[in-house]
Amino acid sequence: MMRVSGFSCLRCRRFFSATMKIVPSGCPHCLEEAPTNLKVVYDENIRPRANTPIAQDRVPSLWRYADSLPCSIEDAISLGEGLTTLLPARALGASLGISDLFIKDESENPTWSHKDRFSTVAVSMARLLGAQVVATASSGNAGASLAAYAARARLKCVVVTFAGTTGAMLAQAEKYGATVLPLLDKSQRWPLLDTCAKEFGWFVTSPFRAPVIGSHPLGIEGYKTIAYELVEQMNGKALDWCVLPVCYGDALAGVWQGFEDLRLRGVIERSPRLVAAEVHGSLARALAEGTDLVAEMPAAFDTLAVSIGTTRSTFQAVNALRASGGAAVPVSNQGLIELQEELARREGILAELASVTPFAAIAMLRRQAIIKDGQSVVAVVTGSGLKDLDRVVRNEHRQAVFHSQDEALAHLRDGEVV
Ligand SMILES: Cc1ncc(COP(=O)(O)O)c(C=O)c1O
Ligand SMILES: [Zn+2]
Repeated sequence: MMRVSGFSCLRCRRFFSATMKIVPSGCPHCLEEAPTNLKVVYDENIRPRANTPIAQDRVPSLWRYADSLPCSIEDAISLGEGLTTLLPARALGASLGISDLFIKDESENPTWSHKDRFSTVAVSMARLLGAQVVATASSGNAGASLAAYAARARLKCVVVTFAGTTGAMLAQAEKYGATVLPLLDKSQRWPLLDTCAKEFGWFVTSPFRAPVIGSHPLGIEGYKTIAYELVEQMNGKALDWCVLPVCYGDALAGVWQGFEDLRLRGVIERSPRLVAAEVHGSLARALAEGTDLVAEMPAAFDTLAVSIGTTRSTFQAVNALRASGGAAVPVSNQGLIELQEELARREGILAELASVTPFAAIAMLRRQAIIKDGQSVVAVVTGSGLKDLDRVVRNEHRQAVFHSQDEALAHLRDGEVV
């Protein structure tokens, strides 16, 4: 069963009926001033009422929140995504000066990133709407995740990329049977997807028009469940801050919607302030200037956090940050690998470099006393450190070979292990 009656503009709130052919450039009325994504509007008759329970028991995936998602459990293509662990991180918290630090470990998802929350909803809806092919422009986590859910749904999946791209996530997409299509000219990726959406009815989940507004609104609904889970896992205790690594802000916008749903339903009194850990600073600039139009920034350096390396984020992200009274923190490469190792060594969580950026942002906000003493903070670790290990494995680790027990023991003594 489909629960969607239409879409509304995140900025001007105009309603568009559910023809389901989402315009990839977003709200036509806002296009010139600030290109803006749409959000799902649910059917009045099935929209959850105040104080209704948010979750159904005994459903072993985020589909336990199906009442707040675009289709019912019966139509869900699921790999058991969601319901990820919320871990108190006392040791890392102490080192960052945060007494109440938590980690939401999204690397536990079936394809080892938070994108599964998006893909499960997007692919379920694509299938319900009769699409034969799902597609995305992504050589990263989004492509790998979409490929897995497409396999599960028996849909074809095309991951459009560009010549020379490699890496674990692309290999992952291929293993799930996706057609990986590297184009010689990077700029041809979006026009190709545009043509295939129009001519062959492909369900394209990623952005494919400039300027970018974000991904398909149906998939973004899946990210609300991060907020639903956090509220349940915090057991009635209010969260002050929620920090995510941000590229186009799909997850940020979805998480904000999730908290606001619960606040409007009377489940929580207030939503946390959201923080975007970003790379090139387009969100920090839009917030500082008070504009809705996110400007392109120069790529001042090659980021290690490749999954979030955009030079221009979106209105949906600014909107979530502004509405929550939050902040955006640009994160450089400096100290990022050390922070990845600190997280792994203190807490036992190996995160992708993009997913380490929230901790750098938290450290910065704490130093600036924007995060206050005693406030609770959750960092969302969006992807597994196995995804980009090739960037960070040090050569000495690869080469260490010991020829005898004595040599091995000497090494252990040097490392103060024995
Ligand atoms: C590991 C990881 N973290 C965070 C993001 C940010 O995604 P977005 O802000 O577009 O939701 C991405 C995706 O591109 C990612 O792969
Ligand atoms: Zn609008």
